[in-house]
Amino acid sequence: MARTALVTGGSRGIGAAISKALKAEGYTVAATYAGNDDAAAKFTEETGIKTYKWNVADYAESKAGIEKVEGDIGPLDVVVANAGITRDAPFHKMSPEQWSEVIDTNLTGVFNTFHPVWPGMRERKFGRCIVISSINGQKGQFGQVNYAATKAGDLGIVKSLAQEGARYGITANAICPGYIATEMVMAVPEKVREAIIGQIPTGRLGEPEEIARCVAFLASDDAGFINGSTITANGGQFFV
Ligand code: CAA
Repeated sequence: MARTALVTGGSRGIGAAISKALKAEGYTVAATYAGNDDAAAKFTEETGIKTYKWNVADYAESKAGIEKVEGDIGPLDVVVANAGITRDAPFHKMSPEQWSEVIDTNLTGVFNTFHPVWPGMRERKFGRCIVISSINGQKGQFGQVNYAATKAGDLGIVKSLAQEGARYGITANAICPGYIATEMVMAVPEKVREAIIGQIPTGRLGEPEEIARCVAFLASDDAGFINGSTITANGGQFFV
């Protein structure tokens, strides 16, 4: 039987590319989205991938949503925590709300996504937990104290989960994309974006598909010995 995969934030941006890549690999894929009904409907129409609406920042919603997905497509083998937001501001202007929204969605959202599937993965002795972190979790970023904290937190999550899940056949890994051509990056002021592109030795933004291929690899049986790792895909902008 085909393996199953869930991609949070899977109907737009990097998440959409991941959903499509996993479908192309033969997985039965479910994608979540938070609010953009039109984009989700269009995505389903174009790809045949079913979408589910819930807020990853809410544990009860995530748990109920995952139960529904598993009822529809079967127990989840691969879970990709991709959903994320930015609320950029220099620290002295950052509000407690901007801090909390990003922490709740990007960091607690990862807990809320992996925690409900973990017992089943342990029982079945197989699982792939993959989180989409960021170059800015590795190097920090002016204007992103909140976002960088969550993306650095992702790396702590996978390193710990790797140790807990290994004996049950579960791997947990992170991908740190650099600046990728998505709506999130396009929302950065043009002058700032141009300056960022100037810092990328490859001389361009990355493509969502370049991240999706990393996910497909980490999800595969070939990646069974890769656990607690970080794949850095940033065009040479930053080395760890
Ligand atoms: N480095 C150093 N100084 C900077 C700076 C930077 N990157 N950006 C701004 N400044 C300076 C400004 O020049 C200004 O200096 P002066 O007061 O001397 O003129 C000062 O900081 C304050 O700047 P602003 O008043 O313009 O600040 P602002 O309130 O308008 O906010 C910002 C600026 C929101 C941080 C804006 O610069 C910005 O959006 N930066 C982009 C942050 C970024 O890279 N976000 C990534 C989004 S994509 C993503 O997150 C995906 C991923 O994983 C990679």
